[in-house]
Amino acid sequence: MTFKPVRKAVLPVAGLGTRFLPATKAMPKEMLTVVDKPLIQYAVEEALEAGIEQIIFVTGRNKSALEDHFDISYELEDTMRARGKSLSALEGLRQKPGSPVYVRQQEPLGLGHAVWCARDIVGDEPFAVLLPDELMAGTPGFLSQMVEAYRQVGGNVIGALEVADSETDKYGIISPGKVYGRLTEVTALVEKPARGTAPSNLMIPGRYILQPEVMRILETQEKGAGGEIQLTDAMAQLIGRQPFHGYTFDGARYDCGDKAGYIQANLALALQREDIGPVVREFARALLN
Ligand code: UTP
Repeated sequence: MTFKPVRKAVLPVAGLGTRFLPATKAMPKEMLTVVDKPLIQYAVEEALEAGIEQIIFVTGRNKSALEDHFDISYELEDTMRARGKSLSALEGLRQKPGSPVYVRQQEPLGLGHAVWCARDIVGDEPFAVLLPDELMAGTPGFLSQMVEAYRQVGGNVIGALEVADSETDKYGIISPGKVYGRLTEVTALVEKPARGTAPSNLMIPGRYILQPEVMRILETQEKGAGGEIQLTDAMAQLIGRQPFHGYTFDGARYDCGDKAGYIQANLALALQREDIGPVVREFARALLN
C-alpha cells in the first residue's frame, strides 16, 4: 500500500524559552548555536534530508533573526567573494522557492495551538512537526528514519524514547501495544503523568508525522497540563481511528531548551568534528584532570 507522501513540516518556534533566560530574552532559543550552527538550521537540514519540500515556521516575538538566517545575504556574500573567502559555511541555507513560510502564533498558548496556527498552509495532507530545540543526532536523521517507517505503516508515527522512571512526569508518555522492531503500537497517550502513574517509560520527543485530522481536533481542544493547549491531548483522540505508532530513534537526543542538555550537545558534536574535535578533547581531558 502507498500512503500520501509527507511534503510539509511545521517547526514551532514561538515558545518563551523561559528555561534558558537570560539568553532567550531578546533572541529565540532556536537561534542558540551548537558548535557553529543555530538549532533551527539542524532541524531544517533534518527535514530537507527526509524529503520535506515546504518548511512552515510558527513564529512569535523576536522572529527577525530566524527569518534573516534563511534569507540570502547579498552584502555578506559579495564581500566574502571580493575577499576571496569560501562561501561553504553558508551552504545548507538555500531552500526551494516558496519555502520557507512564516505564520504567526500571537499568544504562546501551547504547542497544540502553535501547530494549529499552520492549518491553512498544511491543508489536507500528512505533515511532520519538528521541535528545533531538541537536537537529534543520527545517520540518517530522525525524521528520515520516521518517514521510512511511515511508508510501511501510514497513519500517525511519532518519536518514542525510553527515559528513567524519575523523568516520566516531564513528558508526553506512550501507552504501548504490540512492538515490531523499532515500531510500537500506541494505545493511549498522556501528557506529564503524575509520578507513579505513567503507563510506560516511553516519552514522546519532538518529532511527529501526523494526519491532517489532528488540526480539526485542535480547533476545539481545551487547555490541558500546564494550562496549555497540548498536542498530546489532540493526538490521543486519533488513536483507534487511524493507525498510530511510536518509532524508537537510532541516535542521540539533546534537549537544548535545557542548559545542561545544550552543553552536552555542544560537547558531543564538537568532539565528533574533524577540525576542532582533537583540540576540544585535549582541553576536556585537561579540565577533568
Ligand atoms: P517548550 O515546552 O520547550 O516551551 O516548547 P518554551 O516556552 O519554548 O520553553 P520554556 O519551557 O519556557 O523554557 C516546545 C516547543 O513548542 C514551541 C516552542 O518554541 C518549542 O519548539 N511552542 C511552545 C510554541 O511554538 N508555542 C507555544 O505556545 C509553546
